[in-house]
Amino acid sequence: MRRPFARSWTGVLATAAAAAALPLASPVPASADSVIVGGSPVKVSESPWVVALSSRDRFGGTRSGQFCGGVVTGSTTVLTAAHCMSEDVLGAPLDRVTDLKVIAGRGDLGTSEGKEILVSHVKINPEYDAHSNSGDVAALTLAEPLPEGYVLPMAGEGDPAYKPGTQADVYGWGDTTGAGDYARTLHAAQVRVLSDAVCEKAYPGSTDGTYKAKTMLCAGEMLGGRDACQGDSGGPLVAQGRLIGLVSWGSGCGRPGSPGVYTRISDVPRVLRARA
Ligand code: ARG
Repeated sequence: MRRPFARSWTGVLATAAAAAALPLASPVPASADSVIVGGSPVKVSESPWVVALSSRDRFGGTRSGQFCGGVVTGSTTVLTAAHCMSEDVLGAPLDRVTDLKVIAGRGDLGTSEGKEILVSHVKINPEYDAHSNSGDVAALTLAEPLPEGYVLPMAGEGDPAYKPGTQADVYGWGDTTGAGDYARTLHAAQVRVLSDAVCEKAYPGSTDGTYKAKTMLCAGEMLGGRDACQGDSGGPLVAQGRLIGLVSWGSGCGRPGSPGVYTRISDVPRVLRARA
């Protein structure tokens, strides 16, 4: 998913992506109904755990200030990517962003449906390594609880949903073409979990990042086409009704041989998990 943003935003994203992924440099193979790169629009009412992260101060109001995705894992807990909280992405240190919000129940960012909830606390994974992109997760605490129906269960270690070949869906409001066409409405694309051997071969180590099987998984289609993209970061990868990954990085979007890389949820440290 990619989104149509103001130029400044694209610039910010591109900067953020420079560490995490090759940004918008090369064309993505055309796909029939490309949205979130090769996906299609979905109703937020059917996937209420997908949320948008917003700061109108930093990103303007056109798309409700959306700049990353997130997922509800507890009534007051949202997980997102650690890199979404970086100065590279925000354009300012996190403590200077005073209007950081989570938007739930709003599929179309041009409307005022759903709820906007202030983030009262941000906990960045102490093991996050911006160089390799390992451990790319942060937990946001909400100032008010969401109903239990918003919560998506998390996969644990050894969950069968991690088996290579498993079908999974990735959600977001990000770039739908790789050329900075940010979506106004929520999109999802179906991808497949790939084996660690395939992921290691795709990303043996470069400026984009290095694949680490312990903390990451990768997913996509060998022929490319369907993938997450800039602006989708922090959003959920869901298989068999459970959260298995968070959009983290990749080389371009939807390119053959360059699958999307996700934060492995089963490896998220306890301190970032919601209390029961
Ligand atoms: N780093 C990007 C972001 O901040 C997400 C990139 C995901 N790329 C991919 N090809 N799956 O939004």
